[in-house]
Amino acid sequence: MQIMINEIKNWIKEASELIKKEIAKNDMTVDTKEGRRDLVTNVDKQVQDFLIEQMNTFDPEAKILGEENGRDHLEDFSGRVFVIDPIDGTLNFVLEQENFCIMIAVYEEGQGKLGFIYNVMEDLLLWGGKEIGVFINEESLTTPPDLALKDGLVGMNSGMYRKNSYNAQLMAERSMGVRMSGCAGLELIDLIKGNHNAYVSTLAPWDYAAGSIMVEALGMKFSNINGSSLKFDGREHFIAATPTAYEEMMDLVAQAKN
Ligand code: IPD
Ligand code: CA
Ligand code: CA
Repeated sequence: MQIMINEIKNWIKEASELIKKEIAKNDMTVDTKEGRRDLVTNVDKQVQDFLIEQMNTFDPEAKILGEENGRDHLEDFSGRVFVIDPIDGTLNFVLEQENFCIMIAVYEEGQGKLGFIYNVMEDLLLWGGKEIGVFINEESLTTPPDLALKDGLVGMNSGMYRKNSYNAQLMAERSMGVRMSGCAGLELIDLIKGNHNAYVSTLAPWDYAAGSIMVEALGMKFSNINGSSLKFDGREHFIAATPTAYEEMMDLVAQAKN
């Protein structure tokens, strides 16, 4: 496992250099996917192609699920699976050139083994899993305190808050405050570090894969909004929190009218 960890760290480092070079060139191509806010750039595609090339060389048998270039669906999760979000927070990447992440997850026989979330411009890597623990750069992280909803900050998807989906506004009201970064990776970093005590959003597999492996490794909880396992196929509502905040939020979900 150590060899794979070192490899993945090197791929992430190289991918981040590629991104920084592209930012400096300042001639990105930006396209929309499913709406005017759903962006993809030539850099997202290039980074994913680079990562896939490295993964194929490292383990030609491994399967790959990635957001871009038609790799967004996988039938068979047997063996080793790499899950890639080449740039998480593309809207931030385009408009701010910061507050975006590279995310990679490794599954073996359907079990989450390793997660990596790299905040590129801050040079901050969260990585780890159940067997090895969770680290921020090279420093080991401990399980954050099991804060109740009222005692911490909740990361939330702005659309869910606006529409009050699943009682999102009441979750916000009961907490110390709401934070919205536009980047699932950053929200999950904040939960894993203990800066926030919950995160609720609507996410695709590459948005939640790496973070949920580390959330679980630290004894926190995650599921889809009904409390079931995530499907790893298409978007669904995602909730992750400290055990106490998770139960409180699920109660609010159960009481919701929409
Ligand atoms: C998006 C971001 C955002 C989340 C969206 C994701 P992308 O990822 O993580 O925070 O609310 O659901 O799609 O498209 O920038 O990789
Ligand atoms: Ca994403
Ligand atoms: Ca992305």
